[in-house]
Amino acid sequence: MVYIDNAATSFPKPEFVYDSVLDCMKRYCANPGRGSHKLSLECELKIIDTRQRISELFNIDDIMNIIFTSNTTEGLNIAIKGGLESGDHVITTSIEHNSVYRPLRKLKDIGVEVSIISVDKKGYVNLEELQKSIKVNTKALIINHGSNVLGTVQNIEEIGKIAKENNLIFIVDAAQTAGIFNIDVKKMNIDIMAFPGHKCLYGPQGIGGLYIGDSVKIDTFKEGGTGSNSNIMEQPSFMPDKFESGTLNTPGIVGLGAGIDFISNIGVNKIRKHDQEMSLYLTSELQKLPYVFMYGEDDCEKKCPVVSFNVDGYDSSEVGEFLNSKEIYLRTGYHCAPIIHNIIGTKNLGTVRASFGYFNTTEDVEKLISAVKELYGLKRI
Ligand code: ALA
Repeated sequence: MVYIDNAATSFPKPEFVYDSVLDCMKRYCANPGRGSHKLSLECELKIIDTRQRISELFNIDDIMNIIFTSNTTEGLNIAIKGGLESGDHVITTSIEHNSVYRPLRKLKDIGVEVSIISVDKKGYVNLEELQKSIKVNTKALIINHGSNVLGTVQNIEEIGKIAKENNLIFIVDAAQTAGIFNIDVKKMNIDIMAFPGHKCLYGPQGIGGLYIGDSVKIDTFKEGGTGSNSNIMEQPSFMPDKFESGTLNTPGIVGLGAGIDFISNIGVNKIRKHDQEMSLYLTSELQKLPYVFMYGEDDCEKKCPVVSFNVDGYDSSEVGEFLNSKEIYLRTGYHCAPIIHNIIGTKNLGTVRASFGYFNTTEDVEKLISAVKELYGLKRI
């Protein structure tokens, strides 16, 4: 079996992640923050430990500025719906995921104005257009750090400067980069950042995080029990309790902490280098095949380990079906990012997307290449 769908979710996870989740569930999984007994406190300490690891990874000063979510989409919904109101203008780009477009689409109905600025064929944002789109009522700028379709990595530092100079809330979707690219929320002027636990941070599914800087005001998304101020009916206004109503996903948070431990021990740069080598190998081999069309940035050192392509004469889903029959698992289609396909010319095709993780090997790449060759050979018969 070859798994090259790590942009969707990393698989397998490090053994240490499996062990930590199981240990939590079997040995001490009480309700964190809801009691003063030993098991509840052990959960609470593990949660603090994961917040600590996240803060170190992204250079966040205060661990209380990190809230746990179920995934990046939830984090983006909290930021978008809790931060924008009627009359506000928001800028985003043509290479976003539906986790940004769909909440924004919903807010349009209540009078939020949305500008979607263009990107080039490689997926890079047009910074001039970005500057020109800023208006008096522009409140926020939302952008993904790395594209899940093309792997394009934006110059977040430069964009963060523009956001700061214009007093915009800078919201970053780090779904594809958290854990594989170095992110420094201070240096990059990031006000809000949503990230998943289950992709490049190697945690389980169902856990993600949202960093909310002190300078931004975000309304609550849900209210309820927090284990704090339990004798009053008002939602706490302090972080992280303001946003963390209901029992937290302790096993998920413990697994996320273990995943961050794994990447910290190996090193973000080393993991990225490995994954980019896989992309580079695949890219250079596919480039030799005249019947394969490739999309986006071809310099693999500049992008996430994502390679999007098509095979002449086939819909991307047909390629996926064939690869599935060979036990090669990757994602095909539109990848929940509708607009970018108009720009790269795959509106009716989608793309075949290979996305690498630390457990992929050159043998995986070779199996994919020979399967692509075999598929094209079948067509010519
Ligand atoms: N957004 C994830 C992907 O790109 C699920 O596949």
